[in-house]
Amino acid sequence: MNRTALITGASRGIGAATAARLGERGYHVIVNYHRSEMAARAVVKDIESAGGTAQAVRADVRDPAEAARLVAAGARLDLLVCNANIAPTFAPPSAMSWADFSAKVMGELAAVFHVTQRALELMREQRSGQIVYVSSVLADVTMPSALSQSTAKAALNTFARQVAAEAGRHGIAVNTIAPGLVNTDASRAARTPEHDELLAENSVLGRITEPDDVAALITTITDVGFRAVSGAHILADGGHQLLKT
Ligand SMILES: NC(=O)c1ccc[n+]([C@@H]2O[C@H](COP(=O)([O-])OP(=O)(O)OC[C@H]3O[C@@H](n4cnc5c(N)ncnc54)[C@H](OP(=O)(O)O)[C@@H]3O)[C@@H](O)[C@H]2O)c1
Repeated sequence: MNRTALITGASRGIGAATAARLGERGYHVIVNYHRSEMAARAVVKDIESAGGTAQAVRADVRDPAEAARLVAAGARLDLLVCNANIAPTFAPPSAMSWADFSAKVMGELAAVFHVTQRALELMREQRSGQIVYVSSVLADVTMPSALSQSTAKAALNTFARQVAAEAGRHGIAVNTIAPGLVNTDASRAARTPEHDELLAENSVLGRITEPDDVAALITTITDVGFRAVSGAHILADGGHQLLKT
């Protein structure tokens, strides 16, 4: 039987690119989407055209019942990538409403909590599995307008470490990746050509990160050669952090 990978928020951006790579790797891919059904079906079609298998499953991963139905969609679960982008409101602390702040922070945690619990049940039965959480460099960088995103991703990092510590003895590896800015719908709205130029200049690698760059990292760290890696937190920021030291 094919190994199965479930990617939350796989209709667009990093999730869609990861679905394509994991399909090529031979996983049966569960392509989760929330609102973009057509886009999710296109991701499935592309995987099938490349000789793989996939299915699109609608679920708001913040909802416990929908998360449970999503995890149960496959016959087994070998890899869970928690990637869904719970859209943040960008505003400085003084202007942020509690409603916007808590929607992001609670939404981010709900989006990983329910799926993780259900996935761990399956993976513990199988005595194997891998989970990757898509975090952000913003968890560790101060930027006033990023209050809700930073707080949510910092909480996610702590959540992931706790899950990694408990899951390891059941043969389950848990890691986080932390992209800097990635060229997706989520970042596009807030960017200008000048901003992109500045970001590329401020990257040691001199370029903006593309969704497939992050997908390649996820695919690599979940390869069998990485069996000794759990609890790792890997930056995918084009070397940007080197410029701060
Ligand atoms: N882009 C960046 O610069 C950047 C930087 C650092 C970290 N990240 C992180 O990378 C991850 C992916 O971001 P992205 O830029 O690829 O986002 P994106 O292009 O905006 O795509 C967002 C994806 O999340 C899905 N989604 C949103 N809410 C959902 C929900 N409640 N339930 C299920 N799926 C939901 C969307 O599904 P529908 O379209 O079907 O609604 C879509 O597939 C996020 O965790 C984000 O925080 C992104």
